[in-house]
Amino acid sequence: MSYEENLRQQISDAVDHQFPVVKQDPYYPGYHLAPPAGLLNDPNGWIQWNGNYHLFFQWMPFHTGHGAKFWGHFRSENLIDWKLEPVALAPSDWFDKNGCYSGSAIADEDKLKVFYTGNVKNERGERQTYQCLAESADGIQFEKKGVKVPLPEGYTPHFRDPKVWKYKDHWYMVIGAQSTDKKGCVAFLESSDLENWTHRGVLSDAEATPFNNLGYMWECPDLFSLGGSEILLFSPQGLAANGIDFNNQYQSGYVVGSLDYSSASFSHSDFEEVDRGFEFYAPQTTLDDQGRRLLVGWMGVPDQNESEQPTVSNGWVHQMTLPRQLELKGEKLYQLPLEEMKKLRIQERYSQTVDSDLSTSLGRTAEIEISGEIEELHLFDYAKIMYDRDANILHLERLSYVDGTIETRSCRLPNGFNHLRLFVDHSSLEIFVNKGEEVFTSRIFAEVENDSLKVSTKNTIQLQVWDLKNDTIHIRD
Ligand code: FRU
Repeated sequence: MSYEENLRQQISDAVDHQFPVVKQDPYYPGYHLAPPAGLLNDPNGWIQWNGNYHLFFQWMPFHTGHGAKFWGHFRSENLIDWKLEPVALAPSDWFDKNGCYSGSAIADEDKLKVFYTGNVKNERGERQTYQCLAESADGIQFEKKGVKVPLPEGYTPHFRDPKVWKYKDHWYMVIGAQSTDKKGCVAFLESSDLENWTHRGVLSDAEATPFNNLGYMWECPDLFSLGGSEILLFSPQGLAANGIDFNNQYQSGYVVGSLDYSSASFSHSDFEEVDRGFEFYAPQTTLDDQGRRLLVGWMGVPDQNESEQPTVSNGWVHQMTLPRQLELKGEKLYQLPLEEMKKLRIQERYSQTVDSDLSTSLGRTAEIEISGEIEELHLFDYAKIMYDRDANILHLERLSYVDGTIETRSCRLPNGFNHLRLFVDHSSLEIFVNKGEEVFTSRIFAEVENDSLKVSTKNTIQLQVWDLKNDTIHIRD
């Protein structure tokens, strides 16, 4: 058996052994993507190709910590039902032996091609990084093509997560990086053939206008055009919390600007967080055949008490967000649940006009829609949404899974508060505010038996609740 075959056998054994335990966990999601064993992090290679949506992911199948990552693979025709496919990339070569780290996918010449980071630690434990290519004719089996981009000068080996796209007849790549003077930045590369890459320079960095020291490392960049502008999405590390902003361990956000391909210069707005919840990181986007820009994020944050999550004792940790559609309004990114998500609904549980306090019940895979302004919403006596009308700030509180204390995340709503759409899964909550103006993504570890939903309002609101499907992820045939 080759080393690679041996690794694949170990994964199959790990899933056989762990998945029966994992799927019994009342916190395992009913319609979100989660690992059948071990740890899942970043979405990778997100693409619609030959009629199928492919979402690869960073995967450590053997335990719930990080390590030499594989590319796990989920595939879907309709963005609702997903199937786990064989691992796409295994850390089996000299150039990726300590991890097939994050990257992206493109369609080229009838092939699905992926660029990813080969993470290597040498005998002295020093990091080396290689940007590598792998190709597939069927979208399932990948052939590695080796290293295409060695580390250019001016960066430390924290240089990873290539995102590739085509513009006119050339290919472009952004890479998350740290400059030798320890500033977070994004490298910009160009190629005519996907084989030979030219380093065009730094697209933006922690000291670029209008930033004020935006961290020591930027991970997972993504650059795309939307509504006539270019958006750079990235995940900077090293930002200090500032009031209600930057409250997680690391951030994910975006700038809006204009990219001049000929001079490789990008002038842009200030950094805005994409999501206001407790767990959200490393989002990636793709363009589908309906022209929609679709985003998926990791519902987790590196180094943010990961090993304390209650699912660790059942041998799995983390999940993905739902895919969301992006729209740009002015310089603000809106995120909307996909139209397809309505197919998750199995029955309407409640539909009522409400003008005072209300208490009802809710299943563990549910959607709630509220039109109108509410004061508070309590979910499972665990999470609470509160609107501060005077300050125009919306707060989300939950009980910490580390020590049970109350913790808060917040966002500003300069134009008031008029709409909520909530997606509840066994241990997650995605809150879309004002039809995508803000989103809060969080894990929730409420008491399993608790089914309480309470809403208080002084206005007349419309409340609708649906039970959602609980079985859309197929791990085994
Ligand atoms: C982000 C990240 C990436 C890296 C990957 C490793 O969460 O640290 O920068 O490629 O995870 O799993």
